Amino acid sequence: MSYNNFFLILLASGVGKRAGLKNNTPKQLWKIDHKQILWYSLNIFRKIFSDEQIIITYTKDFEKKFIHFLKKYNIKTKLVPGGDRRQDSVRNAFSLIEKNKGYVLIHDSARPIINRALIERVISGTKKYGACIPVIPVSDTVKIVEDNFVIQTLQRDKLGLVQTPQGFSIKLLKKAFEKADFTKEYTDEASLLEQIGEKVHTVQGEKYNLKLTFPEDLIIIKSFIRQYYEF
Ligand code: CTP
Ligand code: MG
Repeated sequence: MSYNNFFLILLASGVGKRAGLKNNTPKQLWKIDHKQILWYSLNIFRKIFSDEQIIITYTKDFEKKFIHFLKKYNIKTKLVPGGDRRQDSVRNAFSLIEKNKGYVLIHDSARPIINRALIERVISGTKKYGACIPVIPVSDTVKIVEDNFVIQTLQRDKLGLVQTPQGFSIKLLKKAFEKADFTKEYTDEASLLEQIGEKVHTVQGEKYNLKLTFPEDLIIIKSFIRQYYEF
């Protein structure tokens, strides 16, 4: 497969409110087995993309730590300050891409355990459909709840848990940034496309592609890294 018409935006500019800081460090820079959470996904992507194709967004208050991280591993990717909301961070990074053709992948650095097969599935779906996201089936029953009472039970076999990397043609993502209502907050980029009525294709995600969201997620992610991470 050819990947040279792809860019990667690696989102690492959150503050990690739910996980909290540890040693005055946001979660994407916490370490597992002496390597930062951010290192793990970046290491897999760097086997596929050159550093020139990669843009990393960083949390402004921790700029020094990010610069130190890149220096330590001799990583020559671009580094861009993030924004208040996820979509602001993506927009900052996306504005550096001057090409009108080609594709972009967007990944949460808080998901360290990705692999080449998953990335390739997303890449093929993106090339074919212009927008592609990985999803996994839901195993719990999901209900809509309001004020401690059930409103409705959703049909489980129609639900999917959404992961990253998400892939888009540059053209479609540009259109979404121009047309979607930016006063609304979006928790992923596919939502921006959905809002303007564009179709988003899905491919199979990976159960171990977990996001570090709460402090206790670290325990599971640590053991999944030792079991499934493809160094
Ligand atoms: N992210 C970002 N810029 C933001 C918000 C989030 O780059 N303004 C990134 C985070 O660094 C993370 C990914 O998006 O890798 C997924 O977001 P999330 O898990 O929500 O991380 P945080 O926003 O940092 O955490 P919280 O919502 O608990 O504050
Ligand atoms: Mg967040």
